[in-house]
Amino acid sequence: MSYILNHGDRWKARIGEKKKVSMRAVISLFILLLAINLCIAVDRSKFKTCEQAAFCKRHRIQEKTADYSVDPTSVKANETGLQATLTSEVNNLKVELVLLKDNVVRILLDEAGTPLRPRFQPLIALNGTPVHEHVIAAEANPESASFVTPTGFKIIMNFKPFRIDVFNSKKELVISVNSKNLLKFEHFREKGADAGEDGFWEENFGGHRDSKPFGSSSVGLDVSFIGFKFLYGLPEHADTFALKSTTNSEPYRLYNLDVFEYELNNGMSLYGAVPYVIANNPTQTVGAFWLNAAETWVDIASSTADKGVLASIVDKFKASKDVPQMDAHFISESGLAELYLILGPKPYDIFRQYASLTGVYPLPPLFSVAYHQCRWNYNDEDDVAMVNAGFDQHDIPMDALWLDIEHTDGKKYFTWDPVKFANPQKMIDGLSSKGRKLITISDPHIKKDDNYPVYKEAKDQGYYVKNVEGNDFEGHCWPGASLYLDYMNPEVRNYWASRYHFDKYIGTDKNLHVWNDMNEPSVFSGPEVTMNKDARHFGDWEHRDIHNIYGFLQTISTHKGLIERADKKVRPFILTRSFFAGSQRVAAVWTGDNTADWDHLRISIPMMLSLSVAGIPHVGADVGGFFKNVDEQLLVRWYQMGAFSPFFRAHAHIDCKRREPWLFSDPAMNAIRNAIRTRYSFLPYWYTLFYEHSKTGLPIIRPLWSEFPEDEQCYDEEREFLIGNGLLVRPIAEPDVTQVSLYLPGRRQVWYEWNNDKTRPSPGAVYVDATLETIPIFQRGGTIIPTRQRPRRSSALMKNDPLTLYVAADTKDFANGTIYLDDGETYDYENGQYLYWGFTYKKESDFVYTITSKNLDPKGEFDPDVYIEKIVVRGVRYYPRNVHLYYDDYNPEGLEFEHIRDKHLIVIRKPGAYVSREWRIDIHT
Ligand code: NOJ
Repeated sequence: MSYILNHGDRWKARIGEKKKVSMRAVISLFILLLAINLCIAVDRSKFKTCEQAAFCKRHRIQEKTADYSVDPTSVKANETGLQATLTSEVNNLKVELVLLKDNVVRILLDEAGTPLRPRFQPLIALNGTPVHEHVIAAEANPESASFVTPTGFKIIMNFKPFRIDVFNSKKELVISVNSKNLLKFEHFREKGADAGEDGFWEENFGGHRDSKPFGSSSVGLDVSFIGFKFLYGLPEHADTFALKSTTNSEPYRLYNLDVFEYELNNGMSLYGAVPYVIANNPTQTVGAFWLNAAETWVDIASSTADKGVLASIVDKFKASKDVPQMDAHFISESGLAELYLILGPKPYDIFRQYASLTGVYPLPPLFSVAYHQCRWNYNDEDDVAMVNAGFDQHDIPMDALWLDIEHTDGKKYFTWDPVKFANPQKMIDGLSSKGRKLITISDPHIKKDDNYPVYKEAKDQGYYVKNVEGNDFEGHCWPGASLYLDYMNPEVRNYWASRYHFDKYIGTDKNLHVWNDMNEPSVFSGPEVTMNKDARHFGDWEHRDIHNIYGFLQTISTHKGLIERADKKVRPFILTRSFFAGSQRVAAVWTGDNTADWDHLRISIPMMLSLSVAGIPHVGADVGGFFKNVDEQLLVRWYQMGAFSPFFRAHAHIDCKRREPWLFSDPAMNAIRNAIRTRYSFLPYWYTLFYEHSKTGLPIIRPLWSEFPEDEQCYDEEREFLIGNGLLVRPIAEPDVTQVSLYLPGRRQVWYEWNNDKTRPSPGAVYVDATLETIPIFQRGGTIIPTRQRPRRSSALMKNDPLTLYVAADTKDFANGTIYLDDGETYDYENGQYLYWGFTYKKESDFVYTITSKNLDPKGEFDPDVYIEKIVVRGVRYYPRNVHLYYDDYNPEGLEFEHIRDKHLIVIRKPGAYVSREWRIDIHT
């Protein structure tokens, strides 16, 4: 219940209206505000530390390690890997090493013999069954067994002590598993057997008892990255992008939780979990994915390689030079010890390899890449109509309007408030007529109310999660007493999917899309605001086994429903708060309930980057900040950040003042309008990046090191980032800034300031304007970026607008870029209704420079009426005399152009070249 108070009453107390007050009242108010501010931070007592989670404590402080070693007689080699038995004083395990396609190695550890219970394996995270690869040169000797991968990596399993070493093709040791000897595997045992440990058979926290009927079955394993100083990944935490050593602090925790007013700069759990770390150095990028859906803690340590151990195996460690090393220690409450080593060797390789393992984000509908307007809540249909019209009156584009929980009839999802939202279809039509969509919320808690058909049907069918006694699990959430659908059951997933069918979700059509919230799941009355771990799911799993995939399973079901309802004709859009590895296959993710302050604005970059490198590309933070009222300057800066975030949505808590852009001063509104219009102008580029992600797994926004891995200066950069490979942006996340210094990466790399075309060399720092109207953006030399420069009400209305190309020459007078176009909405692109073309700019001779367009994918047959209306060439160091356009053998047409000498720019006007035809433009000097 305190959560409800927190969400409502506490907040109301904080934002009282301004009144005329006496001095005394001012002082009391000041004291009150101070007191309230002091308690704004998260209530830490509600959430466990590692010390308070018995299994974590046991793994972290291993006074005596188990000392597993391989029984040499058990080793079996086959075409794709190795198998063996590990023995120790505590128990025996079986280990399996399998080589998978594209340089990935899977290590799987389970109890040997016949365990008392099976262990949960969250295969749902994987994009189908990984394909095995044949190993080369398998070998075994009395001390070790090994194999080589087709790319020249050598994997060695050392017998005593058990350790797995990975050498790259240059024979450098890059990964070592269990080199710290922290492998710990608690086997299932008969109840009553003395495990000799506190909290093995029962645990209590915050007044909640975890009955642990099967005892503890935790697993833990250490992975060292040798030669690395930086690790990334492990979302979701409100912390730095480069992972910090946890030697003197709490480990990073991965346990999906609804954390009220989350704090920054620590490893406390948030709403989602991807147990995946990436290590990067100038020559090698590798990753380790720990496939486990139970509560997980990860200790990170930075050290230098232990020469004692390593000197025996690698010559270079005999040298006195210290080799840096990063260690990750994964600790999970139950499940298997299953680790995927992603071997790279380069950033693009690991993005592809991880994506082929867990899947990509499929091409989203175009509208979802544009601007979204949300608040908790738009009050009624008139309010929606007013906001819809407001954007047009103020010439601000907008693509989707969102309705939060208050739109329902008493928090019963899939219903409408009978008074305030009596004509949903009419409301949707009002939005659709401008190319806009409606997005409604549906949470996994179901109001306990016999008159609510969803509740009743699910109850009658036995579709709810059960408590440890076997009765329906009941908890509190927005509607009060609620039950929770058990998405582990495929029948429940089908049932939930069917709720979105048009004949069930009355008043909706294809222009309605979905927001799944509170799906950690959030249980106000439960331990740590979530479900009891001893609750039971379909398949006889405990909640502890599957906790981190609960939300993922809900979104999978929603996705199914949205596809089915439109006969797989319309691409769905789903936003989820909770997620796991693989969630990208069905949903976009936002960073939950942030706060309207500068630090939260700043942290949104590392949070988005961590998600992006961990395979979840459609990410964003609530623009404006969810809690607290936002001031104009912060709001403007937040819009500028949002305009360069993959997911761009304004949102606010129910008690916050209204924030539609026109409620602010003219300069603020103009700056907001500019930010949103800037987003719309880059939509062709964003959309192309989403398409390319769906083919390659490359993130949409990228850390600098992913494009410049050899540039160590940018390894801990988290104030600026790249959009695709072509744009670098440094959103302002500090108050009262008018200028900013930033780092431009890369050797012999030219950058062009987007706003004034200035050429900037790199690597190095530059100092640029950053007044309130300005977003520091740079185009990378060597790229061509497609844009649309005609502002409209929504992205749908821009579909046939002409393009403007920005060509940025590199030091060799070369540039290239791509464009992907389709109808933005349907699956027709799967049947050839798309185009994917490339543009190239190059120096042909001292006298001629060309820009050509070429079809990169002849299977694409989409032929829209879209032409190029302008081409801007940046970095021109010659004097153009004339410019001609050629179509095939068609006589050249002279084109109008302007050469702006001092800016090294050519602007070619109205080339009129069609985007779906091959053409060439010659620039004669
Ligand atoms: C919590 C979500 O994080 C927030 O965005 C939403 O407004 C509230 N739930 C109410 O649904």
